[in-house]
Amino acid sequence: MSAGRPTPHESAHLHVQGQATYVDDLPELAGTLHAALGWSPVAHGTLHAIDVAGLRAQAGVVAVLTAADIPGLNDCGAIIHDDPILADGEVHYLGQPLFVVLSAHRDTARRVAARAQEFVTITPLPALLTPEQAHAAGRHVVPPMHLRRGDPDAALSSAPHLLADSLHVGGQEQFYLEGQISYAVPKENDSLFVHCSTQHPSEMQHVIAKALNWHAHQVQVECRRMGGGFGGKESQSALFACVAAVAAWRLKRPVKLRLDRDDDFMITGRRHCFVHQYRVGYDEAGRIQAARIDMISRAGFSADLSAPVMTRAMCHFDNAYWLPHVDLHGFCARTHTQSNTAFRGFGGPQGALAIEYILDSVARQLGCDPLDVRLANLYGQDERNTTPYGQLVDDNVLPALLDELVQSSQYRERRLAVAQFNANSPVLKKGLALTPVKFGISFNVVHLNQAGALVHVYNDGSILVNHGGTEMGQGVNTKVAQIVAQTLGVSLDRVRVTATDTSKVANTSATAASTGSDLNGKAAADAAAQIRERLAAHLAEVHHTSAADIVFENDAVHVGGGSDATSLRFEDVVMSAYTARVQLWSDGFYATPGLSWNRETMQGRPFYYFAYGASVSEVLLDTLTGEWKLLRTDLLHDVGRSINPAIDIGQIEGGFIQGMGWLTSEELYWHPTTGRLMTHSPSTYKIPTASDCPPDFRVKLFANENRHDTIYRSKAVGEPPLLLAFSVFLALRDAVASLAAPGVAPPLRAPATPEALLDAIEAVRQT
Ligand code: MTE
Ligand code: HPA
Ligand code: MOS
Repeated sequence: MSAGRPTPHESAHLHVQGQATYVDDLPELAGTLHAALGWSPVAHGTLHAIDVAGLRAQAGVVAVLTAADIPGLNDCGAIIHDDPILADGEVHYLGQPLFVVLSAHRDTARRVAARAQEFVTITPLPALLTPEQAHAAGRHVVPPMHLRRGDPDAALSSAPHLLADSLHVGGQEQFYLEGQISYAVPKENDSLFVHCSTQHPSEMQHVIAKALNWHAHQVQVECRRMGGGFGGKESQSALFACVAAVAAWRLKRPVKLRLDRDDDFMITGRRHCFVHQYRVGYDEAGRIQAARIDMISRAGFSADLSAPVMTRAMCHFDNAYWLPHVDLHGFCARTHTQSNTAFRGFGGPQGALAIEYILDSVARQLGCDPLDVRLANLYGQDERNTTPYGQLVDDNVLPALLDELVQSSQYRERRLAVAQFNANSPVLKKGLALTPVKFGISFNVVHLNQAGALVHVYNDGSILVNHGGTEMGQGVNTKVAQIVAQTLGVSLDRVRVTATDTSKVANTSATAASTGSDLNGKAAADAAAQIRERLAAHLAEVHHTSAADIVFENDAVHVGGGSDATSLRFEDVVMSAYTARVQLWSDGFYATPGLSWNRETMQGRPFYYFAYGASVSEVLLDTLTGEWKLLRTDLLHDVGRSINPAIDIGQIEGGFIQGMGWLTSEELYWHPTTGRLMTHSPSTYKIPTASDCPPDFRVKLFANENRHDTIYRSKAVGEPPLLLAFSVFLALRDAVASLAAPGVAPPLRAPATPEALLDAIEAVRQT
């Protein structure tokens, strides 16, 4: 058995030895030039001139390129074409690339590019720097979206209780350890080979071809692995890939563009911050009768992926709860800041946090345990189980999962202990929260749910696999190798997965939406099964038996039952088939069945299935300083039948800690008049470290199997666990609430930094 085993990540031994190669580790070819980007010093303005001659005259500069040097389309937008590669005419944010400096030395290129301000003439224009300002001015990157069910007006007016409030949820920087990088190498007869750290090699191929006015077949993009992507390299590797490609083509030399961390912060976008304005009606038990919410996101200057991110936010407002009447509006506000993009969860976390915050407020107003309000609102299994967007929740395991977690975490007992502790502790306060997650799996754009693979069995019995997914540390290559080994009944060490390459599998989707293993795993299984069937047919003929009597298992092939039964070595079977001229390689394909989506009505079945989980966190808060500690966290998460429990647990822990960073310490601050992002390096932007893991961290997989036909009945795991961090945020709110008068819900914004916590404490002390 290969599938289901906790085998180490296929590159783990290379990672820990520093032997895994990333783009910048590749030996540089002779003549390589380094590119650096000069960017806009203002948030909005008219670009009159770039002093190219002045820049070119600087020592060590080989060439300077501007928008005028792009032979094809000056655009690298993912969906809508509003993303210039280099600014032309108007500048839209402080940090927008204006020109490219090329030098034999990276440092020289960077030093010259950093002096952009001296070489550009820009007339500043007024800038809209917050989503509220842009929304009020009616500036959006796509038309507003609307999702409605039932009669929210009537339900709101007849509800016994009302709650109207707002919630600010901050953005988040992906902070992949390996920054954005592309290395473009000119090849013969007008073609390019591009090494790129990207979740989406096919899109890189296509945007480069458009920028050069070429055909896609002239561009080959390869990605062996990324040092993390987290959504930040789904679309936004494009600008750098295009710059390196255009420069390489212009200069006929290899060109590498590797961003410095600060430049990466200033140029690229990240998770959208959201402002939620809501009004809900509920009954005595805390059951929501109607919810109306306006979600306003910070899209930044262009559309990028903001529309599907908002769609996912709206489709996750329900999280785990049946909401009979809803009225949801989504506004993607066009601000003069970096264009925001995918980040683990893709809007889901921002949408679902709203309902969790609302239910927490309802519980505080009613004076009951927030867990009981959550349970009262939970989706049913046979009724109360249709989402606002019309999809049946037909795989709800939350009742059993929550039962198990409430027991194993001793939630009820600890609730009493926390109350007792707080009664005797005037300054230090504890808080406890249990939050569930339901997360929809599939790209919410139907056609993206497809994948391809290519499997080669060499005549020595070793196997090479290529598929459309990209490896970013999440272990897709390990899982796909396990799946191929399982399908052919061989040990894992026979299988090697190679770099993602646009010349091997065409028209791939981004590795995103947590679907990497679901889609590419099925495609690779399809390819491997075709080879297995050819081998079986060959053996059936040689051994005069039926293919149905041939079993591939434990590196051997068992032929026939009864007295003639033999067991052959896999490599001997392969050699015999090769000699008989049997095709020993195959492609494979998969498209997720049953999906539908109507963008206008926002109704359909956008998700093949749901992944579930829940978490309990306990915190200790110093109410004088706003500092706090996470004392203990229990996670129980549903990955269906796990393909690799070690990797899945790693994803759950990593997602949780990353979500905790988003909701507690990672704060983005743009200067309110200049629009300069002030938090652009680890000195001012605080991501969690190993020491922020709770000292008591209990992580468990929920025993389950996917009721839908996924690869080995597994479930996607990449994004959903990030939402488990809600329990930390709401445990902090719980600690603050211990200072509040009965019936008062503390107003807490995310991230709950010490400053935000002190603001919340001050607010409830005044009540
Ligand atoms: N895990 C690691 N180590 N590094 C990453 O960049 N990205 C996350 C998640 N887990 C990421 C990660 C995101 S945003 C997604 S969508 C999924 O992995 C993508 O991979 P998968 O679909 O193969 O799970
Ligand atoms: N997740 C990630 N990327 C996407 C999605 C999604 O749901 N939809 C379109 N692109
Ligand atoms: Mo993940 S945000 O879908 O790359």
